[in-house]
Amino acid sequence: MKIKIAPSILASDFSRMGENVGKLERAGADYIHCDVMDGNFVPPITFGHQMVASIRPHTSLPLDCHLMVEHPETHFEEFKKAGADFVTIHYEACRKNLNENLKKIRSLGMKCGAVVNPDTSVEEIFDCVPFCDMVLVMSVFPGYGGQKFIAGTLPRLEKLRSFCEKNGFPEFDIEVDGGVAEENVKNVIAAGANVIVAGSAVFRSGDMKKTIERLRG
Ligand code: DX5
Ligand code: ZN
Repeated sequence: MKIKIAPSILASDFSRMGENVGKLERAGADYIHCDVMDGNFVPPITFGHQMVASIRPHTSLPLDCHLMVEHPETHFEEFKKAGADFVTIHYEACRKNLNENLKKIRSLGMKCGAVVNPDTSVEEIFDCVPFCDMVLVMSVFPGYGGQKFIAGTLPRLEKLRSFCEKNGFPEFDIEVDGGVAEENVKNVIAAGANVIVAGSAVFRSGDMKKTIERLRG
């Protein structure tokens, strides 16, 4: 399976975002991961659709917007207008409306994904695999960059990959987010993830290009 690297701009200098996404593209990134936080679903506030619209002209890479917000459905149209390609939404923010919200994202012409926190069982989102383009398994509790990878994520990835393989979705995109770096990426890929989010690992590196290459495992 093709491994895709999605650097998170959460770790970037917010005053130079346009320049930085250009750099990530030249360094070989596959997606730009945009961490949207509302100060409610998670304590911090980062940025919203305006930031997505501002960086849009600076890269042709798909913008992967991870919405850590309550009532995500109230923002889908704004993200579409801003130029988002993927919108991923938390199971914990939607519960019963998850499938309906995923369909709304698709109906607007964007790709959609469901996200699960480390303390939500991955079985909760098995049902939505047929309605999704991707599932994101959090490997830290959302809210902050630079946290330690939770080792218990590996069996969760294995369970989800095996479900996808057994149910006719062998090439399904499984994204992992939080604390992934050169040291642990091989294990993460072996467990079944193929879309790798990395914030600190990419932005703290002296050579983004080399780091992105190495993150491919
Ligand atoms: C956490 C975010 C992650 C995070 C990744 O809430 O969703 O995308 O920024 O950052 P690192 O790679 O530093 O853990
Ligand atoms: Zn994220």
